[in-house]
Amino acid sequence: MNKELQGIFKGFSKLSKEERLQALQEVGALTSSEADYLSRGGLKDTTLGEKFIENVIGYFQLPLGVATNFNIDGKDFVIPMAVEETSIVAAVCKSAKWIRETGSITTEVVGSDIIGQIQCAKVKDFAKFEKQLLSQKNFMIEIANREVAFGLVRRGGGVKDIQVRRVPRGDGTDMAVVHVLMDPCDAMGANIMNQVCEFLKEPIEQFTSEKVTMCILSNLVDSKITRAVVHIKTIDADLAEKIEEASLFAQQDPYRAATNNKGVLNGIDPILIATGNDWRAVEAGIHAYAARDGQYRSITRWFRDGEGGLKGVFEAPLIVGTVGGVTTLHPTAMMCMKMLGTKSANELSRVIAAVGLVQNLGALKALTTVGIIEGHMKLHTKNLALGAGAEEREIPMVQKKLEEILAVRKRISLSNAIDVLKELRDSATRASSHPQ
Ligand code: MEV
Repeated sequence: MNKELQGIFKGFSKLSKEERLQALQEVGALTSSEADYLSRGGLKDTTLGEKFIENVIGYFQLPLGVATNFNIDGKDFVIPMAVEETSIVAAVCKSAKWIRETGSITTEVVGSDIIGQIQCAKVKDFAKFEKQLLSQKNFMIEIANREVAFGLVRRGGGVKDIQVRRVPRGDGTDMAVVHVLMDPCDAMGANIMNQVCEFLKEPIEQFTSEKVTMCILSNLVDSKITRAVVHIKTIDADLAEKIEEASLFAQQDPYRAATNNKGVLNGIDPILIATGNDWRAVEAGIHAYAARDGQYRSITRWFRDGEGGLKGVFEAPLIVGTVGGVTTLHPTAMMCMKMLGTKSANELSRVIAAVGLVQNLGALKALTTVGIIEGHMKLHTKNLALGAGAEEREIPMVQKKLEEILAVRKRISLSNAIDVLKELRDSATRASSHPQ
């Protein structure tokens, strides 16, 4: 265990922003110029943004925080999270601390290949198409690797297999879908996969005399699955049962599964964003995988281990890259990647899966005990104060009053904040017009 990191994790949330940046520099997670860059508000010059997208008019800023207390596969991490929702970072740090004290997080990636699809919408004879295509499979793998994926081949990756799937058109006939399986090494692989598929269009048409109608990668990468396991060795029996019940709820009921998975993604998306990864692709893959047996289910499972402990498992495709794209172009993403210190795309994927699972644990624990409002709303009081129009100096007073209301009524809203602020200002006016 990294003693230095454990040291800065302690009381990190109580530090000021400047002290946090200082602490991160002390453990080598940030350089002084990176801390300075963050202090100055990050990227401002839109030249880079204009290289990424069209019609640029500025940047949209999200808060960047760090998740502390994570020890994954025996290694400590400082985990950057770019997210706007109150209490996500606090909740995940709290659960990670609990696990650090009483359990472990282990992870693995099973499989290595991503999937590309080549559609032939109207094949005359599927069996003939399949036979012709598979007879040329090795040749097609060879030319795709030689002409397009040679960079990956040099690093031990590249196209590994070509398969054919029969997909019913719904009118009694079939379409043929060719799957290209490719190891993208440390890249997310979308661009190279699309190039491989488009390159194979011509040979496929030549070998089969059928028309290729479209080529694109698939985000449902069930050929490369990331798994994270949390094991809490001792836990209150009642709490363990409640979490198991909550998990069953999310397994069996799609309405609950959607919200459960949103909570898991609360941990996943912020790291994807901070590291410049394509969160839409990961979201699409996770949701599709969650529905793979025909019913949308939870991508996490929690169960008692039979020895007084609790186990949780996250299992889904979580395809990320550590080379190419925004990850290696956006200065904040590059800084976040460095801060994380993951050595490969697989390690990054494993860390992200672990954070998603731990985020889920925190949500289930809160939901099955005190409820979500208590922790969330306590942290949300500042947003409400700001939303009501409170000025910097008024915020602590409005927050304090809102906390009192929350403690008594168990709920607070923006209208409470507006009332509290009005009262505060009225009494300040009264006091100034009637000085003692
Ligand atoms: C809120 O952002 C996330 C939760 O709804 C997740 C869940 O219900 O498991 C609390």
